[in-house]
Amino acid sequence: MTSTALAPGSRETAPGPADAAPTARCTGPDGVHLTAVDRSFPAAQGRHEVLRGLDLELRSGEIVAVVGPSGCGKSTLLRLIAGLDRPSAGTIALGGTALVGTDERTAVAFQEPRRLPWRTLAQNVALGLPRGTGRAAGKERVAHLLRLVGLEHAAGLRPREVSGGMAQRASLARALARSPQVLLLDEPFGALDALTRLRMQDLLLEIHAAEPTTVLVVTHDVEEALYLADRVVQLRSLREAEPGARSLARTVEVPGARPRDRAARDLAALRAELLEGLGVHSPRPTTASFPTTSEDHS
Ligand SMILES: Nc1ncnc2c1ncn2[C@@H]1O[C@H](COP(=O)(O)OP(=O)(O)OP(=O)(O)O)[C@@H](O)[C@H]1O
Ligand SMILES: [Mg+2]
Repeated sequence: MTSTALAPGSRETAPGPADAAPTARCTGPDGVHLTAVDRSFPAAQGRHEVLRGLDLELRSGEIVAVVGPSGCGKSTLLRLIAGLDRPSAGTIALGGTALVGTDERTAVAFQEPRRLPWRTLAQNVALGLPRGTGRAAGKERVAHLLRLVGLEHAAGLRPREVSGGMAQRASLARALARSPQVLLLDEPFGALDALTRLRMQDLLLEIHAAEPTTVLVVTHDVEEALYLADRVVQLRSLREAEPGARSLARTVEVPGARPRDRAARDLAALRAELLEGLGVHSPRPTTASFPTTSEDHS
């Protein structure tokens, strides 16, 4: 498996002092609001700017997919929203309050493995439970989650004893353990075979329908983004952009209620548009109507 769930509040060290002033816009009960977010890192010569001028709103209960070239800052963005890192400038608000570190309302499944190999799947899932959960309630919640992801038969197995898809489902269950208001997924299905990946996408949608959560999912797969998300946010690599360009390349509103027809013609048109933004050229259907597509060229 390539990503393992972690409830940030319980397992990660909080980042150091923020560079950014913690003033925030109001976003509603569970929404996430990024305003003019920059993130740069010290480099041999000056600083390496990874994110610049990023404005982004995740509305309560929606699924937003983030796509963009490798190294454009997708995982950096996810870490910022998880409160595991701080912006160099700008603000991030969760539920109208400035984020000052990890937050119990947020759970994240990382791009790289972070599970504990010596613990069973059930014990790994239990690591995501909120602090202070009673033994019986925790056991019940873990059993419910394992059922939800179809792993009730594998509760006692260790990560090395299960397939990649099963481990991935355990990661998802762990991220869901605290019933997060905001679920952050970094390429959650990246290492899976095509069929398992499609099944996992459907599982995520079923879980989202059963336990509505605001979801931000990073993916390299444009089709996956269009199948899962209400909106697709495309980031650009600042290294390859004009000086002063902002990170947000475009936002695409995806039409149609879920579950969607993967072969729908308007999705094909959006797919072509997003791929073109990633530098992959493909023939575009000519008859499709584009819904609200906004583009930020700055
Ligand atoms: N803690 C850090 N210190 C220095 N540089 C960092 C740090 N974290 C990220 N970077 C740099 O920021 C850039 C963006 O990294 P990030 O992991 O966000 O990219 P990404 O879009 O997720 O890429 P991928 O699609 O390959 O996962 C990279 O050049 C990376 O080296
Ligand atoms: Mg990444």
